[in-house]
Amino acid sequence: MPLPETFRWGGALAANQVEGAWREGGRGPAVCDVATYKPHADPKDYAVHHQVTVEGINAALADQNDQMYPKRRGIDFYHRYPGDLALFAEMGFTTLRVSISWTRLFPTGEEVEPLAEGVAYYKALFTEMRRLNIEPLVTLSHYDPPLALALKNNCWVERRTIELFERFARTCFTEFGHLVKLWLTFNEIDGITRHPFTSGGIIDQTVEGSLDQACYTALHHQFIAAASVTRLLREISPDAQMGCMLTMLVTYPNTCRPEDVAATQAKERLLYLCSDVQAGGGYPRLALRALELRGVKIPFEDGDVELLAENTIDFISFSYYNSMTESADPNAERTPGNTVLGVKNPFLGSTEWGWQIDPIGLRIALIDLYDRYAKPLFIVENGLGMRDELTEDGRIHDPYRIEYFRAHFQQMIQAIEEGVDLMGYVSWAPIDLISSSSSQISKRYGFIYVDQDDLGRGSGKRYRKDSFFWYQKVIASNGADLS
Ligand code: BG6
Repeated sequence: MPLPETFRWGGALAANQVEGAWREGGRGPAVCDVATYKPHADPKDYAVHHQVTVEGINAALADQNDQMYPKRRGIDFYHRYPGDLALFAEMGFTTLRVSISWTRLFPTGEEVEPLAEGVAYYKALFTEMRRLNIEPLVTLSHYDPPLALALKNNCWVERRTIELFERFARTCFTEFGHLVKLWLTFNEIDGITRHPFTSGGIIDQTVEGSLDQACYTALHHQFIAAASVTRLLREISPDAQMGCMLTMLVTYPNTCRPEDVAATQAKERLLYLCSDVQAGGGYPRLALRALELRGVKIPFEDGDVELLAENTIDFISFSYYNSMTESADPNAERTPGNTVLGVKNPFLGSTEWGWQIDPIGLRIALIDLYDRYAKPLFIVENGLGMRDELTEDGRIHDPYRIEYFRAHFQQMIQAIEEGVDLMGYVSWAPIDLISSSSSQISKRYGFIYVDQDDLGRGSGKRYRKDSFFWYQKVIASNGADLS
């Protein structure tokens, strides 16, 4: 069965991992700008890369040498985007996911008017995408809350941040609404409980009360902000669509022991909390109870329940990299995955970073989500981070990447055949960029190689990998030719 003609193909990026130019045009610092590259830390040790203190942030801000803060330079997409977009167009992209840096428009998050230079930059970017027939799919918030709000009041823990975010979103819809018809609110919204600083601007050290409570307070504020800007989008740009964005952490019971199945079920309850709120329109009763039993109370205010119920999203988007298993045994061996530690699955292989590769898990994710919500789905992140070698003749042979995508596309196509309504697929990432978790560039995801190392050395020149030509063929055949 051929894929629908309207199926979108492309790639996904985030401002904080590609743009660089962190001080240009009046841009204010965001939490990503103090993410330090730790060359001696084990890249598998997720927690160490996310540790943050006020002293550490201030020291990073005072550090004039940007070398150890790779997200400040990204891959210089800010200046090089015309060339990069041309390469994406050459691959046949019909969609590109990017995000807008909040602090490029509102440097501290609190200004009343946006910076003209920031507005002009994104207008030029989206206009160029349209010229190349690449539809923008735009995330409003991708791991870059304003640092000023984080230092002032733990950003999303404070309810007032909703208002500030609405102002930012209103600017985006008004200024770019004629160019952008597909929007996402918060990248991996569930992630705030796993990396509170990166997602929510929450500094553990300065939180009053428990961190657990602070995270769910902030998550609730993001839900309210997302519902509120979804309503706003419908007023300003009625022909546009809004999606939510989840981390699909597909979890299997480690064994058929009922204890393992129950542990998995408990994990899934919180996994689906965000989609239940954003697609279903309200908090699921059992998840609320599970939080209550942990001592967490959701800070509902008048009107919140109605706002969530009346402003559900148009489509569900998600990232999928790996699956994991869950066990009731506290000593079961764990391995990292995307922002988590899961119990190791002996049936799966994994990357150097420990992420377990499971193409069938993608089909399971698609079927699960479609079955639960019957809303159109969009795969907005999926890909393989590996070390690549640039050969002397300027080639990169990456059969492992082609193999990864081929296996995932086969499962994606099977899910569509089984009846899932899938709007499109955008890979993470079409070009090498700075890793979110470890700030390395040597964990390479792209079809395009960037000549730059973890310390920022290199020409920055772009090279087409073997997978570039393979993906080009896949897109040209609309998924029919995976050879
Ligand atoms: C997702 C994020 O969690 O995973 C991306 O939305 C991130 O920002 C991607 O880059 C891959 O993770 P990492 O840590 O390998 O960059």
